[in-house]
Amino acid sequence: MLTEIRIDKTDTLKSAADVQKPQRPSQPQIIAVAGGKGGVGKTVVTATIGLALAEKNHQTVLLDADFFGPNLHYLFGVYASRQSLSDYFAQNCDINDMVVPTPVEHLRLLPAVSQTRRSLQPAARQKAKLIHNLSRIEADYLVIDLGPSAHFNNIDLFLNADVQLLVSTAENTSLFGAYQFLRASLFRKLQRSHPHWARFAAEFMQCGDLTHGRSMKTVAEFIDETMDADLEDRFHLLADIAGLRPQLLINNLRDTDARDPLQALRLAAKEALNLELSLWGVLHHDIGVIAALRRNQPIDLLHSTAIGNQLRNIVQRKLVAQKSDRRAVDNDLPLHDWTKVRICSSRCIAWTCCCRRNGGTPCAVMHPDLACGKAASG
Ligand SMILES: Nc1ncnc2c1ncn2[C@@H]1O[C@H](COP(=O)(O)OP(=O)(O)O)[C@@H](O)[C@H]1O
Ligand SMILES: [Mg+2]
Repeated sequence: MLTEIRIDKTDTLKSAADVQKPQRPSQPQIIAVAGGKGGVGKTVVTATIGLALAEKNHQTVLLDADFFGPNLHYLFGVYASRQSLSDYFAQNCDINDMVVPTPVEHLRLLPAVSQTRRSLQPAARQKAKLIHNLSRIEADYLVIDLGPSAHFNNIDLFLNADVQLLVSTAENTSLFGAYQFLRASLFRKLQRSHPHWARFAAEFMQCGDLTHGRSMKTVAEFIDETMDADLEDRFHLLADIAGLRPQLLINNLRDTDARDPLQALRLAAKEALNLELSLWGVLHHDIGVIAALRRNQPIDLLHSTAIGNQLRNIVQRKLVAQKSDRRAVDNDLPLHDWTKVRICSSRCIAWTCCCRRNGGTPCAVMHPDLACGKAASG
């Protein structure tokens, strides 16, 4: 995993303690919880996954990597800590010394900020040091709560994870944000892994741009048209793209939400970006979540909510059962079978006149104005 992250010379500032520490025989499985925007439930999901793992006696650490709006420490009542990521960046210490207990057995926290250091904007070198040392954290599982948006800080931690979870609600803005996050992650991954990225970056980074409407070029088209001559480049590119296996977690789904926009996101990822976005799970809108947060009782997220039960099951099936084989690919929910809905292509050019438009909802990913070319020409 670490070999994928290239760190320049200034980034190899491992602390003496980090270097001397003998590696645990087994590294933590790293689960990154991302989303294209704030408020989709990343923190709720991170905390509940951690609680579900800890309940089964798995040593679990939550890492608050929402650098601009950290709140896991608040959720778990860890206000007076002297340890945090901020302190880790500022000192020469072992990352494990920055992990603090929570009131929940087997569940610990690496807060973003501490009593004395209250803001955090890591430099590239500090971020690289963090990524480099995450696997030294002494735990079975490390669950990372990322910040909103496709900021490089979020993407780099996401790409480094063993399990890359993308949380989205069924709202169009959230789905659009999720698509943008995927697209930016793909470019970042290729920038880091493809030997000849600079050669084709400018043209490639036009691919999957929804603002191009009808004339949008897809990744598949780019590969077919541009890379035909160089078979080796083509092979590397396809392999790199296939190596990105994000998983979608739908959260806060209401009975009244249309299902086709969710499917539209997966289709857009497939058609425009050549990315297989498999479904990790679906969590419904649950007033128990709001009540648990209001009571400031994080443990209730697991014990007094329906999503607690759902996540318990998902965690057991998708994390614990598969840990023995990290390469296991979850194929139980193929793209077109998840819901019974049929939806149009993400590149629909006839959205305004097609019959599904009358009874369905507009494609959430490709805005209808873009699909029919209005905004693109303006
Ligand atoms: N499944 C859910 N059911 C009901 N409300 C939810 C659910 N998930 C999240 N929420 C609400 O959304 C708010 C934002 O969640 P949060 O995890 O803080 O989002 P993020 O970390 O993505 O910004 C929570 O305070 C809670 O009120
Ligand atoms: Mg959050």
